[in-house]
Amino acid sequence: MLDMTRDEAFDLLKKHMEGEFYIEHSLSVEAIMRGLAKKLAPDQVDYWGIVGLWHDFDEEHCPWKEHLETHGPTSVQMLKEEGIDDEVLFRAICAHNPKSGVKAKSNLEYAVLAADPMSGFLRAVAMIYPDKKLASVKRKSVLKRFNEHRFAAGANRDYMEAIEFTGLSLEDLVDVAMEEMGAISDKIGL
Ligand SMILES: [Fe+2]
Repeated sequence: MLDMTRDEAFDLLKKHMEGEFYIEHSLSVEAIMRGLAKKLAPDQVDYWGIVGLWHDFDEEHCPWKEHLETHGPTSVQMLKEEGIDDEVLFRAICAHNPKSGVKAKSNLEYAVLAADPMSGFLRAVAMIYPDKKLASVKRKSVLKRFNEHRFAAGANRDYMEAIEFTGLSLEDLVDVAMEEMGAISDKIGL
């Protein structure tokens, strides 16, 4: 059980995360998760948002470059030390990185697995445009780039497509991500 408001959750994140790029990424994934929750779990919008906000909680505290399997479990450890006790949330945080050993099974877990690479992918598509604005991006060009496997190769296509296990389509994910990231574009530099 998580007994915390969204703003308290954001303050806790900022206590452990300084990099502006990481904060913007966390806010982006939070926004996508909130949008997906509106469709898949309308009574849990804040909760899904916090899963997105915290999914990379340990980014500046674990050796993920050399030991990717520590990314996720370290977040769980840090959150436990902060007095958080929520197994559903812990599982979802680990499931966003299958290398942690936790494989996604629930809608929440598939959502965070898919939202994470989609946030970076949309940013990469926006960077193609002269104004580098998400507002310039069309769904059609996102899907076209999706199939160009050398474009933003670090954005895992399989993870994004895992959204289909929730019953939503890749197109739905793109639409949600464009709308929700677009709504906070001033906060995420897009
Ligand atoms: Fe992430």
